[in-house]
Amino acid sequence: MDQTGSPPGGGDKLLEIRDLVVQFPSPNGLLTVVDHVSLSVGRNDIVCIVGESGSGKSVTMQAAVGLVQPKGGRVSGGSVKFEGQELVGMSSRQLNRIRGDSIGFIFQEPMTSLNPAYTVGDQIAEVVRRHRNVSRRDAWKRAVEVMDRVHIASAATRAGDYPHQFSGGMRQRVMIAMAIACDPKLLIADEPTTALDVTIQARILEVLEELQRESGMSVLFITHDLGVVAEIARSVVVMYGAQVVESAPVDELFRSPRHPYTAGLLEAMPQVALDRGHAPIAIPGVVAQAYAWPQGCRFHPRCTFCKPEVCADAPVPLMPDDHGFVRCARAAELRATLGQAATERSVPVMS
Ligand SMILES: Nc1ncnc2c1ncn2[C@@H]1O[C@H](COP(=O)(O)OP(=O)(O)OP(=O)(O)O)[C@@H](O)[C@H]1O
Ligand code: SF4
Ligand SMILES: [Mg+2]
Repeated sequence: MDQTGSPPGGGDKLLEIRDLVVQFPSPNGLLTVVDHVSLSVGRNDIVCIVGESGSGKSVTMQAAVGLVQPKGGRVSGGSVKFEGQELVGMSSRQLNRIRGDSIGFIFQEPMTSLNPAYTVGDQIAEVVRRHRNVSRRDAWKRAVEVMDRVHIASAATRAGDYPHQFSGGMRQRVMIAMAIACDPKLLIADEPTTALDVTIQARILEVLEELQRESGMSVLFITHDLGVVAEIARSVVVMYGAQVVESAPVDELFRSPRHPYTAGLLEAMPQVALDRGHAPIAIPGVVAQAYAWPQGCRFHPRCTFCKPEVCADAPVPLMPDDHGFVRCARAAELRATLGQAATERSVPVMS
């Protein structure tokens, strides 16, 4: 098993992140905001990274494709291989060639990625021209084609519209169209549905799944919403306090979470609570912060299963188990308890 809980694939891994460490300078020295994170994405795969705000989801993926250095961050360790090629240390020119071409990226803030002064057709065509040696006319044709693929009605006409003429959901489709314009092998989607209402969110997830099925591209999807994970993921990586705390195939994660944090996220899901006849139960306490990681298990101040003599001293390693990986010193003891709480639980249907 690898750290996403997928079977070992050797050569068929598209993206392999190993022991990635990312730091940002602060008045108190370097803050480690991604701490030895490992995960991988196979071909034709959909992997979700899930975790609360500030857990390091976005920075992990930005670092993987060389986007933290421009923001003042640094990759202090680890390796990121895309199709076997090392991306850490690659020149920005080479990375620019890969980003937008073999790796499509949908950023967390769609409006900052669209220029209000240009039509959406021009902006998608520009991405195509940056990576392909094609005429303006063919680039525009491709823009209309991909807008059509993400089901924007009357794509040929709408390509001539400006971003403000699109609703939030339609703008997000434009972002997807832009990210898939060059037929990427991997699409990284950072919270692409968070700002949308539930119905529109469900439609966008359908579009992404359809694209994935038809093109065979892999998707790495970042979200803080386990409902979205249930909808789209095949395997899941749970992050807390800059570290991976659990990874597993999606069905197994929902049926039998092995980390108290994952179990807490599940209990906080409205759909799960409704099934079990109670109100959602929020995880107590506040998210750990990089300037003051708790000693021992970073989740211990919030964990109802914490035994200080076991959990609060030494760092807890990420260990393999039968369904993936888990970072909990009491995982074996708690297995029955956490599994029991989840007996009736399966992957909830969202829409
Ligand atoms: N440019 C930056 N400079 C300094 N610190 C940063 C920067 N970008 C992110 N961080 C810090 O890195 C940590 C991880 O941030 P990240 O954006 O990856 O979180 P996230 O899991 O994506 O959260 P969210 O769900 O809110 O998007 C946070 O503590 C954040 O404050
Ligand atoms: S190591 Fe201890 S505190 Fe951390 S998740 Fe496991 S039981 Fe909870
Ligand atoms: Mg983020």
